[in-house]
Amino acid sequence: LSDPRRVAVVGATGYAGYELARLLLRHPQIQKPTFYLRESNAHVHCLTELFPQLRGWGEAPCRTFSIDAVAGSGAATVFLATPHETSAEIVPQLVNAGMRVVDLSGAFRFRDAKTFEHWYKLPAPPQEFLDEAVYGLPEIYGDRLPGARIVANPGCYSTSVILGLKPLVEAGWIAKERGIVCDCKSGATGAGKEPKKELHFAEVDENFRAYGLFTHRHTPEVTEHLGLGLEDVMFTTHLLPVARGILSTLYAWLDSPREAHEIEALYRKFYADRPMVRLWPAGKLPELQHVVNTNFCDIGFALDASGRRLTVVSCLDNLGKGAAGQAVQNLNAMWGFDPQAGVI
Ligand SMILES: NC(=O)c1ccc[n+]([C@@H]2O[C@H](COP(=O)([O-])OP(=O)(O)OC[C@H]3O[C@@H](n4cnc5c(N)ncnc54)[C@H](OP(=O)(O)O)[C@@H]3O)[C@@H](O)[C@H]2O)c1
Repeated sequence: LSDPRRVAVVGATGYAGYELARLLLRHPQIQKPTFYLRESNAHVHCLTELFPQLRGWGEAPCRTFSIDAVAGSGAATVFLATPHETSAEIVPQLVNAGMRVVDLSGAFRFRDAKTFEHWYKLPAPPQEFLDEAVYGLPEIYGDRLPGARIVANPGCYSTSVILGLKPLVEAGWIAKERGIVCDCKSGATGAGKEPKKELHFAEVDENFRAYGLFTHRHTPEVTEHLGLGLEDVMFTTHLLPVARGILSTLYAWLDSPREAHEIEALYRKFYADRPMVRLWPAGKLPELQHVVNTNFCDIGFALDASGRRLTVVSCLDNLGKGAAGQAVQNLNAMWGFDPQAGVI
């Protein structure tokens, strides 16, 4: 019989998987997380063999991954910190085997299969599973999460941009026809642990570059969940020479002149009772060092003297609120646990 207090993690050797391990091992409602590794790691039996930094408190079991092994583990929920194509294949199998899934990949983030196929250049999962998946941004879709069987954890950049702009867009205060610029920067863990030439130390350290212009996969996520068209947004990503963290600078024109206190009041009202979003007073701006190794998204803004040009800064840890921390928030909402359990 499966138990909500028991969870499984697939992809534990990766960056997001490690962060999930760190959070779940300390989650007060979770007992015995089990970590599933590929056949090539069959010799690993304990998580501390992979991550010596967990020695002394993270002696959790590792098993070889198969659908049957996870489904028979007694866990009610499985976290997938796996590549998009792996998640696309195994989520339906795990759900059909009676499990609930929090998937950190992009495979279930779009209801429209064509959107996924166009931006990810991969075959989409079956439509019935796309239809069922809930986009796991608890601050916006918290009411859809209780009881959900498939939760599509949002992208890291997408989380920073959607949370940064949602109050303004929803209030209708942005002059969309003037365009919204999303100028986003991430640390190198955002690209995962697979070695790539452009991620070598010598290519990243003391360097800074833009990538994915007009082609970044998080673009359609941002526009869909902000209710905008692709033509409304310029979304550009950059690689920062740091390990973790995302800072998104978001530029917008307002439809009519506003005062800074109105903007602040709008955000405070929108994010009341959403403690993972921390707001800064007008003119004070968040920095990466305020959010790295946390599950917070920090948001600040500055308004120019005309009251029309607004710059919002939204910051988070790509492995925290941008991945594993958000996934644990989703677990809490799915099962009715304390919303902040395991993420503070
Ligand atoms: N990194 C981020 O900031 C971030 C943020 C949000 C979302 N995400 C998403 O989260 C997922 C994981 O990202 P990551 O950065 O942690 O990637 P990663 O560091 O490359 O890790 C990928 C993990 O998936 C495992 N894996 C690969 N193929 C598999 C298969 N066929 N069956 C079972 N396990 C398999 C790998 O195991 P091996 O060790 O055996 O290769 C590894 O544990 C991705 O979908 C990514 O897009 C990442």
